[in-house]
Amino acid sequence: MDYEAILPTRSSASSSGRSSGSKKASSLAELEDVAVRLGGRLIQSGMSFSLAAGEMVAVLGPNGAGKTTLLKLLLGLVRPAAGSIRVLGAPPRRGNRLIGYVPQFRVLETERALRARDVVGFGLDGHRWGPAWPSRSREAAIDRALEEVGALELAEAPIGYLSGGEQQRLLIAQALLSSPRLLLLDEPLSNLDIARAQEVVQLVDGIRRERQVAVLLVTHDVNPLLPCVDRVLYMANGRCLLGAPDEVINREKLSELYGSPVEVVEALGRLFVVGVET
Ligand SMILES: Nc1ncnc2c1ncn2[C@@H]1O[C@H](COP(=O)(O)OP(=O)(O)O)[C@@H](O)[C@H]1O
Ligand SMILES: [Mg+2]
Repeated sequence: MDYEAILPTRSSASSSGRSSGSKKASSLAELEDVAVRLGGRLIQSGMSFSLAAGEMVAVLGPNGAGKTTLLKLLLGLVRPAAGSIRVLGAPPRRGNRLIGYVPQFRVLETERALRARDVVGFGLDGHRWGPAWPSRSREAAIDRALEEVGALELAEAPIGYLSGGEQQRLLIAQALLSSPRLLLLDEPLSNLDIARAQEVVQLVDGIRRERQVAVLLVTHDVNPLLPCVDRVLYMANGRCLLGAPDEVINREKLSELYGSPVEVVEALGRLFVVGVET
């Protein structure tokens, strides 16, 4: 099974967080003219934007555009080739407990040994097995997180028996255990039908309002998010564009971003981007 998908990112190798420089306190994450090079290829360049506390941003774009890489930049797992990044007032560093991360996810079909509460508990213990917390407060914290995502009744269920939507809820509960101020969700809606996707979006929207946590949510389909998202970050063709959904998802802006003709069709209150891979 894919442990990377269910274990939170944690590392003892944290970089020395210099506290020099003072950026606007209201900005939760800030990128200035960032370029990313991976495997000798320029993945993104000129990436500049800032994210405010409590804001929900959908990250869109075709496969390979650099969406996951953006999350890894904020997590300190990938270093930019140029430009500067600040997250929660400091340079990105690995193992930052103030960031909750749900990695791009494969369905855990075969895992019978782990119960739902074990998976959520990784949010407290990281990669170490066995209780690191006094067991009573540990179990109470796990119960609270399970309740917050509406999955308390699943606590004892083997993870492999649960649906994609249920598993996604548990991974979100896991990410909440460290009381993050920034939540990074990589394609939490893939493998979900429309109704289930809407439920997960409502859950995340409720959490960010309740906790005033900023959310970056990577998705291929912006439609389930349109009712609640503040802005979209559209990545394509080595560049990105940030703005309100209708400022970004339109024919002019996307044709310019992709460098080829793109149509945006609106039907039944849903947006469809036509002419390119999305
Ligand atoms: N560690 C790596 N080494 C080399 N290339 C990479 C690495 N990680 C990702 N890439 C490449 O960088 C590009 C962006 O990847 P990714 O951020 O995963 O895209 P997305 O999440 O938008 O599908 C892809 O072309 C991918 O193949
Ligand atoms: Mg990805």
